[in-house]
Order: sequence, then structure tokens, then C-alpha cells
Amino acid sequence: MTPPVLEAITRQIAAEFNASFSYLAMAGWCEHHKFMGAGRWLRMQSEEEHEHAMKLFDFVLARNHPVKLPGVEQPGSEFDSIVDVFERALAQEQGVSRQIDALYELAFNEKVFAAMAELQWFITEQVEEEKTVREIVAKFHMVRNDPASLLDLDRELGGRGPEPAVPKA
Ligand SMILES: [Fe+2]
Ligand SMILES: [Fe+2]
Repeated sequence: MTPPVLEAITRQIAAEFNASFSYLAMAGWCEHHKFMGAGRWLRMQSEEEHEHAMKLFDFVLARNHPVKLPGVEQPGSEFDSIVDVFERALAQEQGVSRQIDALYELAFNEKVFAAMAELQWFITEQVEEEKTVREIVAKFHMVRNDPASLLDLDRELGGRGPEPAVPKA
């Protein structure tokens, strides 16, 4: 890999760990406010982001480069409401998508084809993640502050099943 691509992938590893930590903070807020289903959903999402980071970690090693881990940023842990949590999750996913696109463009310009192949999985994954979170935000907007519907929605989020494993690098 060229140094700029390696550097950018390292920044992406940081972004995935930051996303993992941020989802964990969101899970903490939800569970503190007794939205236990949303908390479970967000914990699972936090684990998924951890897997994304590890996928890139493994990719760097597979390409025979040393891994330099960056620090993790302190995530926001104050939210106005449950809908605010998921709106921020959506904004976070949209930010990650832009970052992956920029990384793909860089890999293309630098002709690092192995990185392009690796990043293709992430591009597809971002489409799915944005779609999922966007649907959750829409549902929270639909139910507004109706307690019975909020409880139903929380229960629905709590029913999130295991997802197919992230393929190895
Ligand atoms: Fe991710
Ligand atoms: Fe994500």
C-alpha cells in the first residue's frame, strides 16, 4: 500500500472504533432512560463497529504493514430524547459513508487495487446501515411521544437478531 492509503485506512480504523464507542454511549443513555430494547440494539451496533475496525486492522496486517492504533475520541453522552439518539446515529453513519467514499477515491487514485476491493465491502455496508438507521428515525418520528407506541418500538428494536458475520480481510 502507498503511505497515503495506509494513513487513510488508519484514520478509518479510528473512525470505526469511534463509532463503536459512540454507539456504546448511546446504549448507555437509552438503558439509563429504560429504553432497554434500543439499548440492546445499540450495544449490538457497537459490537458491529468494533468488527469493522478489526476487519481493517486485519487488512493492514494481511498487506504486511505494521498497525499504528490511534486514540479514541470521547463520545457524546448527552441526548435530548430517544429520537435525538437515532438522529445522531444517522448523522454519524452519513459521515462514515462520506469518509469511506473519500478513502475509496484515494485508493483508486493511488492505484491500490487490493484496498479498493477491501473497501467495496464497506461501501455496500454503509448503504445498508444508513438505510436501517433512517428507517428507525422515521418510525420514531411517526410515533412521536405516544407512550404505548414508543414501548412497542423499543420492544421491536430489542428483538434485533444476530447478523451475518463480517467477512475476514
Ligand atoms: Fe462501520
Ligand atoms: Fe456503521
